[in-house]
Amino acid sequence: MILIDGKKIAAELREELKKEVLSLKTKHNKIPGLTVVLIGDMAPSQIYVRMKEKAANEVGLKSEVIKYPESVEEKTVLDKIKELNKDHSVSGILVQLPLPKHIDKQKVIETILPSKDVDGFHPMNVGNLSSGYDSSIPCTPLGCYLLIKKIEPNLNGKKAVIIGRSNLNGKPMTQLLLKENCTVTITHSKTKDLKSECLKGDIIVAAVGIPKLVKGDWVKKDAIVIDVGINKTENGIVGDVAFDEVSKIAKALTPVPGGVGPMTIACLLKNTIECFKRSN
Ligand code: GUN
Repeated sequence: MILIDGKKIAAELREELKKEVLSLKTKHNKIPGLTVVLIGDMAPSQIYVRMKEKAANEVGLKSEVIKYPESVEEKTVLDKIKELNKDHSVSGILVQLPLPKHIDKQKVIETILPSKDVDGFHPMNVGNLSSGYDSSIPCTPLGCYLLIKKIEPNLNGKKAVIIGRSNLNGKPMTQLLLKENCTVTITHSKTKDLKSECLKGDIIVAAVGIPKLVKGDWVKKDAIVIDVGINKTENGIVGDVAFDEVSKIAKALTPVPGGVGPMTIACLLKNTIECFKRSN
């Protein structure tokens, strides 16, 4: 079994990006900038944002985090986004989710200029991706896609089963795999007989948030299994895949942690650089 080392593959990607930032700096006499907006003090968001900032600095991007208390008014956030939209030193804007209940997520996402939307959440980018046009691609599915391509460069005709239909993961993942000529099945919490759906997959992407949902006997021999889950349990952080069982059957599997997570962050940096290049 191939243990897909997301940590190592992400480090390689960051090295490439670092070189690219240097060459862009020489060419344009400026560097791409990422601005992250963080609202409230939820521990996971704090940790993710710190990791994003550290990684951005490491590859030589300009990075800034704007923090607001949980109680911040929606208008304050929207006005800040509008200001960042106009700021030429800001290539990419990311508002960390989830947001407090009194702030309308859709409004926030739609206020970000599509050309600075490093998350690829703006309806314009969602539409462009599903139409097969150039767009920002959400970081987590992009990271999963790059990992899958490392193991199997030719995905023509492969059967892919995606568990989870979220805008963050499942839906964009579908678009990326369709573009690669996979036959894609999207499953979710209401899917009947999920096990038999999973057994058809040459590729399984589990992004549903249920600890160890995907069992050993759900997986076809030699499948590529990508575990997007990050679930807090009594026994620490576990994925959506029962690692011990599935690792005996699959051809390749991502660990949790150290699989998809580091790729998500590296892809955010990649997207920031892409936004910079499109605007220059
Ligand atoms: N919260 C968890 N994942 C993400 C992500 O990919 N982007 C943003 N903006 N917030 C998140």
